[in-house]
Amino acid sequence: MKASVTKQVVDFGRLCRDFPILQKTNRGKTMIYLDSASSAQKPYQVINAIADFYMQDYANIHRGIYELSERSTQLYENTREQVKNFIHAAHADEIVFVRSTTEGINLIAQSFGRPRWQAGDEVILSTMEHHSNIVPWYMLKEQIGIVLKIIPIDDVGAMDIETYKKLFSSRTKLVAISHASNVLGTINPVKDMTAIAHAHHVPVLIDGAQAVSHMPVNVQDLDCDFYVFSAHKMYGPTGIGVLYGKKPWLDTLPPYQGGGGMIETVAFEKVTYTKAPQKFEAGTPDIAGVIGLNAAIQYVQTIGMENIFSHEQALLNYAEPKLLAIPELRMIGEAKPKVGVVSFVLNHIHPHDIGTVLDHEGIAVRAGHHCAMPLMERFQVPATVRVSFGVYNQEKDIDTLLSAIQLTKRLFA
Ligand SMILES: Cc1ncc(COP(=O)(O)O)c(C=O)c1O
Repeated sequence: MKASVTKQVVDFGRLCRDFPILQKTNRGKTMIYLDSASSAQKPYQVINAIADFYMQDYANIHRGIYELSERSTQLYENTREQVKNFIHAAHADEIVFVRSTTEGINLIAQSFGRPRWQAGDEVILSTMEHHSNIVPWYMLKEQIGIVLKIIPIDDVGAMDIETYKKLFSSRTKLVAISHASNVLGTINPVKDMTAIAHAHHVPVLIDGAQAVSHMPVNVQDLDCDFYVFSAHKMYGPTGIGVLYGKKPWLDTLPPYQGGGGMIETVAFEKVTYTKAPQKFEAGTPDIAGVIGLNAAIQYVQTIGMENIFSHEQALLNYAEPKLLAIPELRMIGEAKPKVGVVSFVLNHIHPHDIGTVLDHEGIAVRAGHHCAMPLMERFQVPATVRVSFGVYNQEKDIDTLLSAIQLTKRLFA
């Protein structure tokens, strides 16, 4: 299948043809997918790469001495190199393949936090974190008695940096913050926030789940200590994600899980481990997932991350004023800059009801708390409707959305 893009020219209007599922209908209507922040759809290029891998190159990795296994291992390790280049890490062995953003954060909590921290030590989070970047730290609070300190956010949905600066103490052990909010869309000033943390000798973990598919990311420029993301939000498969960690950290952290592939020697009396990143990849990994991630990175890089960012900004600039012109609509999250995510509530109409009407009009959006209950509490709403863009969306999708919102208003008048 020929991609709708070349390196020079991107025809965003044709990109949806790369996505077989977008040729289907939703409730008998043309499918309009506006839920990419939850999970992005998959292009032929990714689907075919996984199928081709199983048909031509599949074997377990790092084990066989036969050609097929060598080939499979090569493809897997090439992807590590490719991820390194994609996020501008310094070394390929700073790239750990994990199951997801969620697993990457749990790995750091259990491998970094649990053995090193004491009761009363502090982790700084923000009000806008996804549950994946709250619950692993809350579990440490239960397990060893750490204290969670929370950066407030203002009424438009921006971090309160002045308060952030005052949260540090001699007990602060880590700052864990999202690069972009999955509800508000806010792109946080993570580079500056990292510099502030480092001035206090505190390492920083950035949850990049909502950033990597929308804009160029350079972990060396951000200078963060850890960066995590999931492939499925960037047009890749589910079940595979990336934990980036600066080499000195990964070299000193103990393994998270034990099993095959992460050991040097095993005796009942003593086990010795391999080096990072393999010591964090116990058991047979999601090899085909890694191959799919490789294809997804190639896909977005062919389009160009700057082009993707500009396209989604154009959609945002088209959608936001039109949505704000609806008198009954309250937008949740108006801070700038933001990624292509718009959350809103509509007077007395419950977000689930709005989502149901939109669904009947062929439009897929997310309605709920978006795994961000403290954020819902902050804005005093039980839930929001969330519209989020991907490379396949166009202005006409927003026009259809606007008509469907008018229909919802009439139905619930
Ligand atoms: C900001 C943010 N962090 C973490 C996650 C968790 O990602 P996953 O479920 O792929 O682990 C999400 C998913 O929506 C997210 O939006």
